[in-house]
This record gives sequence, C-alpha cells and structure tokens, in this order.
Amino acid sequence: MKHALYLPLVLAASLAACGERESPSTAGQETPAAAPPPVAAVDDGERTYKQVCKSCHETGVINAPKVGDAEGWTKLLAEGQAIVTAHGWVGVRGMPAKGGRADLALEDFARATAWMARSAGGDWPNPDEAMMAAIRDEEAKRIAELQARP
Ligand code: HEC
Repeated sequence: MKHALYLPLVLAASLAACGERESPSTAGQETPAAAPPPVAAVDDGERTYKQVCKSCHETGVINAPKVGDAEGWTKLLAEGQAIVTAHGWVGVRGMPAKGGRADLALEDFARATAWMARSAGGDWPNPDEAMMAAIRDEEAKRIAELQARP
C-alpha cells in the first residue's frame, strides 16, 4: 500500500511546481519573442517527406503505402525498419530508388521513412548509427539478391 500513500504527496509537489513556473507578470500574456526550439532540432523526416515522397505517399499512387494509413503500413511495420527502409531505398515495383531523387542522402530517406511509419502508428525513431548500419547491411543484401536473379 506504499504507493497509495505516496501518490497524493507526489501530486501536491508537482502542482506546487506548476504554480512556481508561472510568474504573475507573464501569466496569461503572450510571449513577445518566439521561444527557442527544444534542444537540437534534428530534422524528423517531415521535410524530406514533403519535398520528395508526398507526391506519391499522400494519396497512394500505384499502391504506395499512404501516410497515416495504419492498415497500409501493418505489414511493413512488422517487417521492420531496417529492411523496409533498405528496400524502399533500393526501389521496389512502383517505388523508384531513392524516391526518384538521385542526390538524396540515405539518412534523409531513412528519416522520411521513419516519419511516415510513425504517421501510421509505428514507433520507428530517427535512425541512430546502429540502425543506419543495419539499413546499409540490408541494402547490400537486397542489391546482391536482385543481381542474383536471372
Ligand atoms: C513516384 C512515386 C513515389 C515516390 C516519389 C516515393 N515513393 Fe515510396 N513507394 C511508392 C510505391 C508505388 C510503393 C509501393 C511499392 C510496392 O510495394 O509495390 C512505395 C513503397 C515505399 C516503401 C516500402 C518499401 C517496401 O519494403 O515495400 C518505402 C519505405 C517508401 N516507399 C519510402 C519512400 C520515401 C522515404 C520516399 C521519399 C524520399 C518515397 N518513398 C517516394 C512510390 C513512391
């Protein structure tokens, strides 16, 4: 029963903290200058999505998995971030390699893919170094697989 005892204390403490943050002079007023962006504003993939992927992935051209479409992404989410990112990057059926943008960096492509996955209910984060390495592995495997085909 320890938790039941502590909970009201924790609540009271956090309420008190809230009150402290709002000084009477600024409460209810609009902040004059824009607040600085939170921590390092790393691109979350939306920019690349809008510039390169949206033209097909917004409406689902040639069966492109649509943004925000949980059903359309179910299979891809299950397949996993590294494989799906690599296969999209190399190109698959109506999906042009690199989204059709030859100068696109793999990092940006991977972030845009993760962003789309999140829009559809996935929890794929911006790829870290380990994920980028896994994506490159899958890319190499996929290329070898395609080259081995008759
Ligand atoms: C010219 C249209 C077009 C553009 C532009 C495009 N895609 Fe696609 N994409 C498709 C289509 C069509 C598919 C479905 C391919 C299939 O499975 O038949 C697809 C599938 C994918 C997949 C799933 C790959 C898999 O394993 O099945 C990923 C990931 C993806 N796209 C990422 C992107 C990203 C990221 C961008 C932008 C950088 C992008 N696409 C731009 C048409 C496009």
